Amino acid sequence: MPTLRIAVLPGDGIGPEVCAEAVRVLQALNLDLELHTADVGGCAIKATGVALPETALRMALDADAVLFGAVGTPEFDRDPHAPVRPEQAILGLRKALDLFANLRPVKAYDALLDASPLKPEIVRGTDLIILRELTAGAYFGKPQGISGEPPNRSAVDTTAYTEAEVRRLMIMAFELARGRKRKVTQADKANVMATGRLWRAVAHELREEYPEVTYEDMYADACSMHLLRNPRSFDVIATENLFGDILSDEASMLSGSMGMLPSASLGDTLNRHGYRRGLYEPIHGAAHDIAGQGIANPLAMILSAAMMLRWSFGLREHADRVERAVERALADGFRCRDIAAPGERTVGTREMADAVIERLH
Ligand code: IPM
Ligand code: MG
Repeated sequence: MPTLRIAVLPGDGIGPEVCAEAVRVLQALNLDLELHTADVGGCAIKATGVALPETALRMALDADAVLFGAVGTPEFDRDPHAPVRPEQAILGLRKALDLFANLRPVKAYDALLDASPLKPEIVRGTDLIILRELTAGAYFGKPQGISGEPPNRSAVDTTAYTEAEVRRLMIMAFELARGRKRKVTQADKANVMATGRLWRAVAHELREEYPEVTYEDMYADACSMHLLRNPRSFDVIATENLFGDILSDEASMLSGSMGMLPSASLGDTLNRHGYRRGLYEPIHGAAHDIAGQGIANPLAMILSAAMMLRWSFGLREHADRVERAVERALADGFRCRDIAAPGERTVGTREMADAVIERLH
């Protein structure tokens, strides 16, 4: 078997801290790893002037999978006109690798029911996946930009979808649901947006091919409400890029914290192992407010590495082992600050990863 060639792109803020722990977990599994690492995001801008240097992009394209931390720095958030932005690293990678499908599983862990701001009886048993389209919509539509001078500036973003872009995402949704609870909810704004009406039309054609899957349309605003009212009623939520971004942050609260949610971004290209090439990243951002203190929760990143083992390497048993070890560490009371109840003892980034590693075997 070829090595597991992984491009490790830690990025900014807490990215490097959590990435290092995910790598330690992978190393503890005794796999034949070939790791390549490069700067992306704000740190790359400082060093090279661009967020996604050619070398990092090449590394990602040559790898079987990409492990990605987080990008973003406060300086750039303050300047609306900055032509170079850290986020261009992740957006550029998604586009260059054609990673159109972003899987964001949301699970309520029994041990963390009290960490959610929602009532335990609401969140208990939640097990859903937000399947977010990742390479089109408002994130990439043209025209985009700010023009004019104050006080008469104007700005435009464009939400655009082709039928092919919708179809490949919806196929993935039905296929995923088939292996789970067999339900797809497609969230759009078909009452207002033409793109929403296209999503609905394409989904309705496809549902005929998946009679074993229950399908429903839902307006994205209503979906955001039902997510909090009855999260157990969902299985796979398929949606466009921007709505998926918003709904997934909301849904993270069901599992207690943004620090718990992993993600996999997949395309149709196969890697040297015959599995999908993918990029794996936690959904939380760079979190500069806590960066460098060793207190960030590494579990979203570690769970992202587990998704990588499953989706890009077909190592289902290894992935299960990592996920079970995370569950055990939580059940044994290990808590980073973001998931601790008031007064509960907390551990740092490294200790949490140690707790997971100890429970791998
Ligand atoms: C995410 C993030 C990114 C996004 C940012 C960092 C560009 O919020 O992955 O959810 O909006 O897609
Ligand atoms: Mg987001």
